[in-house]
Amino acid sequence: MKKIEDFKDLYNKKVLVRLDLNVPLKNDQITDTTRIDKILPTLNFLVQHKSKIIIISHIGRPKGKTNSALSMAPVCDYLSKKLSKKVELLNQNLFEIKPEEIFDKSDDKIVFFENIRFYEQEEKNGEEFAKMLSKFGEIFVNDAFSCSHRAHASVDKITKYMPSYCGLQMSTEIDALKKVTSDIDRPITCIIGGSKISTKISVIKNLIPKFENIVIVGGMANNFLKYSGHNIGKSLKEENCNPIVEEILSLAKENKCNILTPIDVSVGKNLEDSKTIKRLGEIEEDDLILDIGPKTIQLICSLLENSKTVLWNGPLGYFENSNFAIGSIEIAKKIVDLKDKIYSVAGGGDTIAVLNQAGAFKYLNFVSTAGGAFLEYLEGKEIPGIRALN
Ligand code: 3PG
Repeated sequence: MKKIEDFKDLYNKKVLVRLDLNVPLKNDQITDTTRIDKILPTLNFLVQHKSKIIIISHIGRPKGKTNSALSMAPVCDYLSKKLSKKVELLNQNLFEIKPEEIFDKSDDKIVFFENIRFYEQEEKNGEEFAKMLSKFGEIFVNDAFSCSHRAHASVDKITKYMPSYCGLQMSTEIDALKKVTSDIDRPITCIIGGSKISTKISVIKNLIPKFENIVIVGGMANNFLKYSGHNIGKSLKEENCNPIVEEILSLAKENKCNILTPIDVSVGKNLEDSKTIKRLGEIEEDDLILDIGPKTIQLICSLLENSKTVLWNGPLGYFENSNFAIGSIEIAKKIVDLKDKIYSVAGGGDTIAVLNQAGAFKYLNFVSTAGGAFLEYLEGKEIPGIRALN
């Protein structure tokens, strides 16, 4: 992949940059700016090289229709403040604009296209649409790893029509993911939490042959506890899950991968309750398993002490209630304690929320803001945006 930092002459070049600034909005206010803050180095890099920057991004899923609630305007305002630069939102129909007219000679501004998903051709990976977009720039930069699993026109097809490069964040993200999938420093432990095993089965199956330890926690661990004959009370579980559990366990045996599930738990009678620690045999019919217990925490910590790499996706319990955030926070703290000995990568929206709660975010080697793309990469699937750059 050609990297933007290797491009020799960016001066005055019109650079079309695809970013994923799909940030959460409430009443036109951005409620989490992490995704914007992460790509500032890329924009600053282009500003320093005096390129003419044109940004393409999306918010939400407007399905090809203009929707003012999903306008990029709040992102433009925020970027303008952060970069101390004019960021102009271009909300006219792109088919009706003359590309050569968007910058004046003396213009020192960034141009930002309105939500690209307002055009139905974007998600259809439209040939004509991509060709039209390409006319606006001289080179294309994809710095949107988190939407590169989408074969959309501004991610995929556009690369057919102009010299295309990988952005700074995109290369950092791919390098970090390679360190946990191919260039691994062993032993490696993977902590997979969250509520639904069915959404992570492909990730787990793909990682079993590569990893020494896979720790299955969060709501999805209940399926394993139930499978091994434990009462899980009224805890979250998925129907017809035994074949998935069996498949994971037999694949792990075949590949000598150690699967760890909770050996004790923290329960409540409802989501707002305080916690009670229980051994697996003590769970009552009206109990909800909402976190791992102290013995399981200890066990995971000792696995981490003996690992050189850790990959973490998904909270270990119902962290929205602080009584049940203990497992997640203790593991985050342990990873921070081991920061000089262990290479750490985490990803997923809830995992980021946990890392922020524990004050651990900045101590991990890499935290991915990608959700779907992060999981698809770990599943070993081909990512269209990366394939297109290659
Ligand atoms: C994301 O938020 O994960 C990306 O922006 C992709 O969004 P999508 O799932 O709507 O394609």
